[in-house]
Amino acid sequence: MSGFIGRVGNSCVKEKLLSALNLLQFKDDDSTGVLFCNKEGQHLYRVVGKVDELVTLIPEEVDGYMGIAHTRWSTYMHQVLENVYPLSSENGYVTLVVNGLIDNIQMIKRRLVKRGYSFRSSSAVEVVANLIEDGAVENEDPLRALHRAMQQLEGDYALLAVFNGNCKKIFFAKNGVPLIIGKNHDGMVICTDYTPIADQADEYYYPNDGELGYLTSDNMVLYDGKLKQRKPSFTEVSVSEKTLELGDYPHYMLKEIEEAPGVIRRLINNYFDGTKYRFDDRLIKRIIDAGTIVFIAAGTSYNAALVGQRYLRNFNKKVDVFIASEWIFYPYQSGEDTLYVLISQSGETADILKCLRTIRAYGADVLAITNVEISTLYQSADYRLLLHAGTEVSVASTKAYIAQITLLSLLYARLVNKITTIAALERVIEALYNIISRRDTIKAIADQIYKSGDVFFLGRGFDYDVAVEAQLKLKETSYIHAEAYQGGEMLHGPIALIEENTPVIFFISDSLTVAATREVIREMRDRKANVIVCSLAPFNHDGDSFIISNPIKGYHSPITFAVFAQYLAYYCAVNLGRDVDKPRNLTKAVKDRSV
Ligand code: F6R
Repeated sequence: MSGFIGRVGNSCVKEKLLSALNLLQFKDDDSTGVLFCNKEGQHLYRVVGKVDELVTLIPEEVDGYMGIAHTRWSTYMHQVLENVYPLSSENGYVTLVVNGLIDNIQMIKRRLVKRGYSFRSSSAVEVVANLIEDGAVENEDPLRALHRAMQQLEGDYALLAVFNGNCKKIFFAKNGVPLIIGKNHDGMVICTDYTPIADQADEYYYPNDGELGYLTSDNMVLYDGKLKQRKPSFTEVSVSEKTLELGDYPHYMLKEIEEAPGVIRRLINNYFDGTKYRFDDRLIKRIIDAGTIVFIAAGTSYNAALVGQRYLRNFNKKVDVFIASEWIFYPYQSGEDTLYVLISQSGETADILKCLRTIRAYGADVLAITNVEISTLYQSADYRLLLHAGTEVSVASTKAYIAQITLLSLLYARLVNKITTIAALERVIEALYNIISRRDTIKAIADQIYKSGDVFFLGRGFDYDVAVEAQLKLKETSYIHAEAYQGGEMLHGPIALIEENTPVIFFISDSLTVAATREVIREMRDRKANVIVCSLAPFNHDGDSFIISNPIKGYHSPITFAVFAQYLAYYCAVNLGRDVDKPRNLTKAVKDRSV
């Protein structure tokens, strides 16, 4: 994937720029570059490789009060240095980093070739740089040259531009690709993602499509698409969003798993005032009035929506759940009064944003449930609920899933006016602390299974929903093949895969299904599978591997079982020497390919 960051400050930017670039770097990124600007001029370093290699190229004495940097996974078979960003225009008038997809790049390039431009790379970014240079009029403010180029570019993009001879301003333009601008006493920062800059700013501005402008060390000057100056309003971000330090933890994933009790506490504090729930009355009325609720999400967020679906069905609502990348192609519409609930940790997943656009075209209402206030989804929705999970750095989503289920359970409790849910969640917090104190037991289970080629997770009802999340977590962090099935479905085919010692992990939380599930356990044991049972105390049997002994409600069991599954995935990944926080081929927010 790819992303960029720029910083202009009152102090040297190198350390902050490179540490953010590191967070931005996707595991498979194959090239990165940085441009520093100082009194001596511009200093460009680029490498076909990772940020670590880039750092070794930069002489210790080189720094600056301004810089831009980029990291990407290239769409070429073999990345070459000429195509690594930042890239300059032919005469060095402007240097750029760009993210996005520009549709008419070949046409523009042909035009520039006719006008005498030659190209050193096959990159679209060099074309954009030459387009800006070509349109520039002598002594004109670079802003106008940038604006002129924007009017010719077709497609979705965000870019940063540094103009030669101007080492105090970073120019930017945005159209269809996420861009976030932050500020604090030390300067201004701009990035394609929120997480890498969460600890570098106190306030944020989220530019709209078509906007452009520039940043100085203490200000942003903003223009709309007609080059009319606009006054931006920055949003303050709570301190809880900015906890990026790893502390004594070896990995963010472990740290974030263990933040789960605090996340639930924060959600209670945000959505319950001690005597009553604090949800926007407009939202509650909209849900009550909705004929159908349609959840749309991807990955772990989809798995949380499965749980949410069960909650809202109890409220006598017709509820559907769709995978975002499917719904885009088969956008099932279920009536004019449908409320679409889009769940996304990042609020920037490309498939979700495409669904958002389609729903907008229907003129229907969207409730956004997201962890990132400064996200396209949050900013564009009619109704909004924040997850308050704090920044999630690890690519594998853990605490955000806990927050999603907790928030959906609070929302359901508000709809049915059930105050006892708060006490039930207090018990969940206790149960989570208890699980955390027994993490070594889960590690011992991981030690037993991590060499397996296949792992199966089974459950019924809520237990199935969490089994789906458990298999995803294990797969993505340890690269062990894992599947989830509804308890009974195992017998209709997948059982053929069970061999001696195949790990089959059961979740049991419901009196209604316990007997039937124990039957399946017997079948698995008959086939000498390695059966691991995770149960709530009222339904446990001798020999169950992990029992949640604190009294919690069945409808909250996915929260506790999920933490068990997250630890299991974590320890398997560690045992296998995986890059836990940045699993291969994955990125935190799945966005479209870049230029
Ligand atoms: C799994 C994971 C992904 C994301 C998915 C959706 O651990 O991180 O499956 O859940 O890409 O991302 P968001 O929720 O940001 O839309």
